[in-house]
Amino acid sequence: MRDDIDRWDARFRGRLAGTPSMPKGLGGLELRRGGRCLDVACGLGEQSLWAAQQGFSVVALDGSEVAITALNSAALNLGVRDRIDTRVHDLDDGLPADLGGECAMVICQRFRDPALYDQMVYMLQPGGVLVITVLSQVGRQGQSRRFHAPPGELVDAFRDLDVDIVRSLEADGESTLVARRHLT
Ligand SMILES: C[S@@+](CC[C@H](N)C(=O)[O-])C[C@H]1O[C@@H](n2cnc3c(N)ncnc32)[C@H](O)[C@@H]1O
Repeated sequence: MRDDIDRWDARFRGRLAGTPSMPKGLGGLELRRGGRCLDVACGLGEQSLWAAQQGFSVVALDGSEVAITALNSAALNLGVRDRIDTRVHDLDDGLPADLGGECAMVICQRFRDPALYDQMVYMLQPGGVLVITVLSQVGRQGQSRRFHAPPGELVDAFRDLDVDIVRSLEADGESTLVARRHLT
């Protein structure tokens, strides 16, 4: 992971965290606000900032210290620093065990690690919502497909887990799935 993260650090260096942004796929969906939200591979944290502004208490994880530092500054500027617990965390080690069953929402945008799919569900409390977007081979022209999910990967992975699939969109090189953990 170190090489990867060095590359991400270099990419993020000198950049400011962007504007708060709702995760892809949640538009028009009725959501309970508040409670814990986990943002997996938060990068500069646009979704974390959005979630904090919505009243969630956010844990934002990323391996890039540069990205986490930028997110801390943006959170301070926006007055939500006390609502975001940022952690430099290597996702190759899995998700933090202390959040198991605690999260009203889990966000994972543009980061793909199929080994984490069942752990993301395990992080959710009953009725909690997962929104995940990965790069997809569907609708993508040319270039390397190495990091792109094959067609149907998200639906295939999550339909057997402890969730109802609320939405699934796959087009233009991205695949998004919204799912809700079963109540019992
Ligand atoms: C494409 S960016 C997505 C950032 C953000 N979720 C977004 O949509 O703007 C991928 C992120 O994954 C992080 N990342 C890659 N490998 C990682 C690892 N092993 N552990 C933790 N973070 C990792 C990178 O630092 C980067 O911030």
